[in-house]
Amino acid sequence: MVIGLMVEVKSNQRVGNDYYLLKIRALELTDSIFPGQFVHLKIGRDNLSFDPLLRRPFSIHDLSDEKDIYLLYRVVGKGTRILTDYKTGDKLDLLGPLGQGFKLDFVSRKILIIGGGMGIAPLYFLAKRLAKQNLLKVLIGGKNKEEMEYFIARFRQADIEFAVATMDGSAGFQGTVVDLWQKDNTQPDYLFACGPEAMLREVQVIAQKKGIPGQVSLEERMACGIGVCLSCVHKTNKGNQRVCKEGPVFSLEEVVFDD
Ligand SMILES: Cc1cc2nc3c(=O)[nH]c(=O)nc-3n(C[C@H](O)[C@H](O)[C@H](O)COP(=O)(O)OP(=O)(O)OC[C@H]3O[C@@H](n4cnc5c(N)ncnc54)[C@H](O)[C@@H]3O)c2cc1C
Ligand code: FES
Repeated sequence: MVIGLMVEVKSNQRVGNDYYLLKIRALELTDSIFPGQFVHLKIGRDNLSFDPLLRRPFSIHDLSDEKDIYLLYRVVGKGTRILTDYKTGDKLDLLGPLGQGFKLDFVSRKILIIGGGMGIAPLYFLAKRLAKQNLLKVLIGGKNKEEMEYFIARFRQADIEFAVATMDGSAGFQGTVVDLWQKDNTQPDYLFACGPEAMLREVQVIAQKKGIPGQVSLEERMACGIGVCLSCVHKTNKGNQRVCKEGPVFSLEEVVFDD
């Protein structure tokens, strides 16, 4: 069930580069949240502000044992810049949990998770859930060490097997995370991916060749976030689907990427 409520900011810390980690308390939501789902935040200088007008979508990055929700965001524009000003104790207008999360109805499989850039944010929550019952490997990639440092620390702390690729070679393998997969030659039974479309398209092509099924999480610019405005549609082999409602997670086989 989607709930709209004012949630309390527990902390909002810069965790490197342009990344911030926002911790919020929303006990009404925590029992119904699944990895891959997102929340829609109304951000403003005060609660009456309509600038920016539209809510901004953010994936659930983690859920702590104490049931605090973590969102990891990168400052890219007006909304995320204003979000950095939120302080402990401030209230934030949240709608969620939204969308269809990753389907996890299998156990004890050899699973590969591939994440690029900010697409790694929802995969951390997923990896923590999957690591309990599956043989799991995570491959993450980004521009450079600075961009990857936060994620490296988190996966290390969670004791999840992972490898890193950076474009400039400042951490791990030099190249894209897909190049790393090719070199590493991991043959999973199943895979999950989130990241830039170019990366997802390559993952889809390789997975099809190798006959590996999986799921991908997509991003599109959103307005309503609840399936009404159709601003977030993406091509699939079932026709256009709403990323906010039928997604953001789709089966790897059904998504149609433009060339
Ligand atoms: C389902 C979903 C989950 C997301 N999860 C996260 C997350 O966990 N962490 C995170 O940092 N970001 C996430 N995003 C992207 C995030 O919503 C945008 O970065 C944010 O809305 C930008 O707001 P802004 O006002 O700062 O930037 P704007 O001023 O609106 O835009 C600034 C720049 O960001 C780009 N942008 C804006 N909206 C989106 C969008 N929806 N997707 C991709 N690029 C966008 C614009 O093209 C522009 O270059 C997610 C997006 C979706 C759709
Ligand atoms: S954002 Fe309105 S339908 Fe998806």
